[in-house]
Amino acid sequence: MITVQNLSFSYTKSPFISDMNFSVSKGEIFGFLGPSGAGKSTLQKILMGMLRTYQGSCQVNGMECKNRTRHFYENIGVDFEFSTMYEKLTARENLQFFASLYEKKPRPIDRLLKMAGLEQDADKRVAAYSKGMKSRLNLIKALLHDPLLLCLDEPTSGLDPTNSRLVKDMILDEKAKGKTILLTTHNMQDAAELCDRVAFIVNGRICALDSPRNLIMSKGAASVTYTWFENGEHRASCPLEQISSDAQLKRLMAENRLQSIHSSEPNLNDIFMDVTGRTLL
Ligand SMILES: Nc1ncnc2c1ncn2[C@@H]1O[C@H](COP(=O)(O)OP(=O)(O)OP(=O)(O)O)[C@@H](O)[C@H]1O
Ligand SMILES: [Mg+2]
Repeated sequence: MITVQNLSFSYTKSPFISDMNFSVSKGEIFGFLGPSGAGKSTLQKILMGMLRTYQGSCQVNGMECKNRTRHFYENIGVDFEFSTMYEKLTARENLQFFASLYEKKPRPIDRLLKMAGLEQDADKRVAAYSKGMKSRLNLIKALLHDPLLLCLDEPTSGLDPTNSRLVKDMILDEKAKGKTILLTTHNMQDAAELCDRVAFIVNGRICALDSPRNLIMSKGAASVTYTWFENGEHRASCPLEQISSDAQLKRLMAENRLQSIHSSEPNLNDIFMDVTGRTLL
């Protein structure tokens, strides 16, 4: 669905995106993770044909992005970082307007509103919407014309846990229908749950690219930490995969003398810090 080769781009003189190479297969959820200012939204704007002064090649659905035609957008749905709705129109009027811009027959608007939990507020002006309501409305706007590729920029940002779950389920439903999804997020749990592969982006470069599982495994096994009391409190750790050969732990278990025991798995943020020396936030 996407092939990027030797991509470079700059807003000013110095290259901002440098020498990027990756591809995304049909049906994949591909995540961009990186700190603020890393270039994630810039990369998405290039892939969406909005920034066209790049060097190298960037092909989406068989078309070089800088040569895009109007038809390019028939198969792409974009949920931008910021709301792109007309505030004086209602949600339904916005969706009707945006649906009219496509050649394709739109998906039923009432069903989309219901999916996003907005059916009761469909005839309210968007100006009276909360941040989370706008965010969900933006997402269904991207789904209106049933595109093959969805490009979602922080779709769960600022949502409460219930609505965040709802949005993640909507994303997984689109994947189940065979859609390809580009997902930018700061939320590593979301990335680990949703993405088939993630690219870590820092200062306009990809510094790691793999499945969340492979990235986490590359850090090594989870470890187990346990404490017990024996002339004062003691603490020890061992790798989870060697738990059965830890004689001290076996003895403490047999004697029921453990005070606490817990395992800690590395997560994507740990890997991100290892690879980049920075946190995701
Ligand atoms: N239109 C523009 N003109 C000049 N510089 C820009 C423009 N848009 C973005 N930049 C700069 O490019 C860099 C990357 O911005 P970008 O929006 O791609 O970051 P991001 O990774 O999406 O960050 P965030 O997580 O905060 O959304 C930043 O330094 C930003 O100031
Ligand atoms: Mg951004």
